Amino acid sequence: MHDDIERVLFSEAQILSGIDRVAAEVTEAYTGRGFTVVSVLKGSCVFASDLIRRIPIPLELAFVSASSYGDGTESGPVQLSFFPTGQEIEGRNLLLVDDILDTGRTLSQLFAELLKRGAAEVRSCVFLDKPTRRAVDFQADFRCFEVEDLFVVGYGLDYAGRYRNLPFVGALHRAAFARD
Ligand code: IMP
Ligand code: MG
Repeated sequence: MHDDIERVLFSEAQILSGIDRVAAEVTEAYTGRGFTVVSVLKGSCVFASDLIRRIPIPLELAFVSASSYGDGTESGPVQLSFFPTGQEIEGRNLLLVDDILDTGRTLSQLFAELLKRGAAEVRSCVFLDKPTRRAVDFQADFRCFEVEDLFVVGYGLDYAGRYRNLPFVGALHRAAFARD
């Protein structure tokens, strides 16, 4: 699996120091107010689990499921398939946590849907941001790293369902795409 990686963009140590910084920002923003971290499955589960363990104030955890990429590397229509219960949303301050902000379609749709379902407030926190790829107007409130327009895998991010378990973020060799 590691042989499929052409170049490492963020090492494990770099990732953890980026998360320390963002966790401190999130902690400051929510100190004294209750909030719920809403992890967008599947990609954000690795990031969310490292992030919440660095936030030393009370929080709750919920999950939503959204997928846009299918098996390829091009963005398709977003499917929202799993939602927290009404009780977990209504009147709550929600922090949507996702692996990567690309076209912005996933988070902007989730954002609107959670407000429609009665959330008091929705903010967002992303591990990676590819600002040059934006198709809809959306900015994250918190982000760890900006990346160039390049398909990346690892630390929760997948290609065709694989590579989520790499502890770093890297770019795939062309040959790894060509095999599928
Ligand atoms: P958006 O709706 O276009 O912003 O896409 C967000 C979703 O696309 C992310 O949650 C990822 O699942 C997927 N995605 C976007 N770029 C990449 C990438 O470089 N590698 C892996 N998945 C990606
Ligand atoms: Mg995803």
